[in-house]
Amino acid sequence: MAAMSTASPPAVLVTGGAGYIGAHTAKALHEQGFLPVVFDDLSSGSRGSVRWGPLIEGDLRDRGALTEALATHRVSAVIHFAGLIEVGRSTAKPDLFWEVNVGGTINLLTAMREQGVGRLVFSSSAAVYGQGGRGPLEAIVETADKAPASPYGDTKLAAERMISAQCRAYGLTAVALRYFNAAGADPSGLIGEAHEPETHLIPLAIAAALGDGKPLTIFGQDFDTPDGTCLRDYVHVTDLAAAHLAALTVELPAGAFEAVNVGSGEGRSVSQVVEAVGRAVGAAVPHGVGPRRAGDPPSLVADPRRGRELLGWTPRHSSLDEIVADALRWERSPAYGAGRRDPANRRKSSAPA
Ligand code: UFG
Repeated sequence: MAAMSTASPPAVLVTGGAGYIGAHTAKALHEQGFLPVVFDDLSSGSRGSVRWGPLIEGDLRDRGALTEALATHRVSAVIHFAGLIEVGRSTAKPDLFWEVNVGGTINLLTAMREQGVGRLVFSSSAAVYGQGGRGPLEAIVETADKAPASPYGDTKLAAERMISAQCRAYGLTAVALRYFNAAGADPSGLIGEAHEPETHLIPLAIAAALGDGKPLTIFGQDFDTPDGTCLRDYVHVTDLAAAHLAALTVELPAGAFEAVNVGSGEGRSVSQVVEAVGRAVGAAVPHGVGPRRAGDPPSLVADPRRGRELLGWTPRHSSLDEIVADALRWERSPAYGAGRRDPANRRKSSAPA
C-alpha cells in the first residue's frame, strides 16, 4: 500500500493516535501523504497532540464506534496503538487489561472484517519476552521464548496470537511491532512524551536535572551488567514512527503475519542515561540508588536484524545524545506545558498508549 497524490489521501485509522507514539506516527503518516484518522478516548492521550487529521473520541470497547469510524472515513488500513500500558497497574487490574487490550482488539478486528479493511499494524512490546530462557546479556530475536512477566505482557502476546490466527483464517495482513524503550520527541517541539504520572527514566532524569522533579532513584546497582545498572534499548520515537510506515507499506501476501522487534540493538545502562542527561542539561542529575523495581529484567536489548531485512528499517536518530537532546527540547517547549495542563491528560490513568 502506498500513498499517491490523489485528491483525497488514503485514510489510515490510528487508534490511540493522541498518545505519545501514536501522535508521532500520525505526523509521519501525514508527511508520507496519508490521512491519519485518530480514534482515541483521551483518557491518557492529549487533544493537543492531534494535529494532522480528524479526531474521533471513542472507546475500543464500543465496536459500533469503530465500525462507524472505518466506514465514514473509508479507511484502508489500521495502526492500532490504543490500550492500557502501565505494567504495574496491570498486576492490580488484570481483568481491565484483558478487556481493553484483548477485548478491544477483537472488536477492532471484527469491525475491520465487516468493513473489508485488510491491513493492520499492531503496537506490541518487548514485554512479550520477559526473561525467558535467554542469557542475561543476550540480544533478543523474535523467535526467543515468550514468558511475559506481567499481565500487560500477557495481553500483548494474546492479542498478537489472536491477530495471527485471524490472518490465517480471514486473510488479514498484519505486522506486530515489538517496541523496546521508546524515547525522545519530535524535533519540532510540538509533540512528545507526557505521561501522567510519569514513570519513565529519561523524562524523570530530565525533570530532576532541571530541578522540576524529585531527585532520581536508580532502581538497583547490583545487576549482572557491566556497571551494575539495568541495560535497555532506547529507540527514538521518530524512528519508531518510521517503522510503522515501513510496516504499513511493505509488500506482504494476504494472510501474512509478521512480528518484528523495534529497537536499536544497543544496550544503554541507567547510569549512562543519567550521564547523558547531565551533559545535555549542563547540570548533574541529582540521584540516589534504591532497591530494584519489581519485574525489571537486567537487560532488554533487541536483535534488530529482522526489521532491517523485512522492513528495510534502521534507526537513524537513536543515539543516546540525540534522544536526550530531543526529549529535553520537548520538556522546555510551550507545547509540553500545555499538554501537561490538558485536563484530558489527568482524567484517569487508563487507556490509549
Ligand atoms: N529506572 C530507574 N529509575 C526510575 C525509572 C526507571 O532506575 O525512576 C530504570 C528502570 O529500572 C529500567 C530503566 O530505568 O531499568 C528504564 O525504565 P523505564 O520505566 O523508562 O522503562 P521500562 O524498561 O521499565 O519499560 C519499557 C516500556 C514499557 C514496557 C516495558 C517492557 O516503557 O511500556 O519496557 O519491557 F512495558
